[in-house]
Amino acid sequence: MTSTEHAQQPDECEIRRAAELLRAGELVGMPTETVYGLAADALNVDAVARIFSAKGRPADHPLIVHLPDAAHLVRWARAIPKEAIALANAFWPGPMTLILKREEGVPDAVTGGQDTVGLRVPDHPVALALLRAFDSGIAAPSANRFGRISPTTAAHVREELGDKVALVLDGGPCQVGIESTILDLSRGTPVILRPGAISADDIARVIGRRPATRTAHAEEGAAAAEPDQPRVSGSLAAHYAPRTPLQLIPVSRLIEEAATLAGEGSRVAVLARTCPDPRDARLTWRNAPAEPAGFAHDLYANLRELDACGADFIVVEALPETPDWQAIADRLGRAAVGSGDGEAVLDLHDET
Ligand code: TXA
Ligand code: MG
Repeated sequence: MTSTEHAQQPDECEIRRAAELLRAGELVGMPTETVYGLAADALNVDAVARIFSAKGRPADHPLIVHLPDAAHLVRWARAIPKEAIALANAFWPGPMTLILKREEGVPDAVTGGQDTVGLRVPDHPVALALLRAFDSGIAAPSANRFGRISPTTAAHVREELGDKVALVLDGGPCQVGIESTILDLSRGTPVILRPGAISADDIARVIGRRPATRTAHAEEGAAAAEPDQPRVSGSLAAHYAPRTPLQLIPVSRLIEEAATLAGEGSRVAVLARTCPDPRDARLTWRNAPAEPAGFAHDLYANLRELDACGADFIVVEALPETPDWQAIADRLGRAAVGSGDGEAVLDLHDET
């Protein structure tokens, strides 16, 4: 995190005001290290209902409850396994959500009526200050409209949901840039429901066994066979999506395919990683950082800009198929499926 990213942190007075707004049942835009959240008092069912209507999100999709620290866990979860404590100690505050059996009193509105609850302590000074001032759980999904690109700056939140929130706390651009890893510890075998910056290997190092991963494909099968599977909107095949059709193309064909589309009269925006800019005036070219942390940091801002530049297609350089790119490949794959009219070609499995 650079110092300029957090040049204008909200002061104590603004944090106090945000906490009061939450107590009054209002919605607040809250920065976290992953993406901005649309925050509400997790125990106020009317406030939680406003999150769903603001986002246009189906009411049975559960929300993550953000806590000031791990000591608050026992108020929200029961039958907490030792592995959860070890992971909380290792990774909180940080980009990891634990799915645990919910404690009595956690509203159905938050859990989507399931017997589990998603919990995390975010690693952002503004979120932590707000959580301490509020001193209870804050429900916060990403502050975007359902299915759309998650916001990583306060300006993104204002653009998308400005009319729905009482206040947006500006904590600068999010350091991580993609949503937290979601680990289900409520069913015996730990399962990663959504990959994120904390990897299966990171988790295995702490708990001494490797979590299973629920792929989109396995999930479809599992959902059909097991109707009680948790609902994870971030695991829908089409999610995190720009309005412009988006395709992933191997670097070896990137320039050629972009030029072909442009030659057919399409306006083409390119998100490249290693491919040098050919300086073709017909292409809106953007180079993203070549390593995963930097690429993730800029990903959603890049997609938003390319989506807004008036192009007919967004072409993205396909990613390496290595574990350190997995969470980003997951988001871009879903962005491709959900983009445009949803018919865009998904080309994740070409070698690069
Ligand atoms: O990084 C993040 O996790 C961000 C920041 C704001 O904390 N939040 C976020 O929230 O991504 P949201 O609502 O956009 O995604 C949360 C995901 C959803 O896909 C939801 O279905 C899943 O977490 N989830 C929440 N509670 C769950 C539960 N009890 N069981 C299974 N999945 C759950
Ligand atoms: Mg989301």
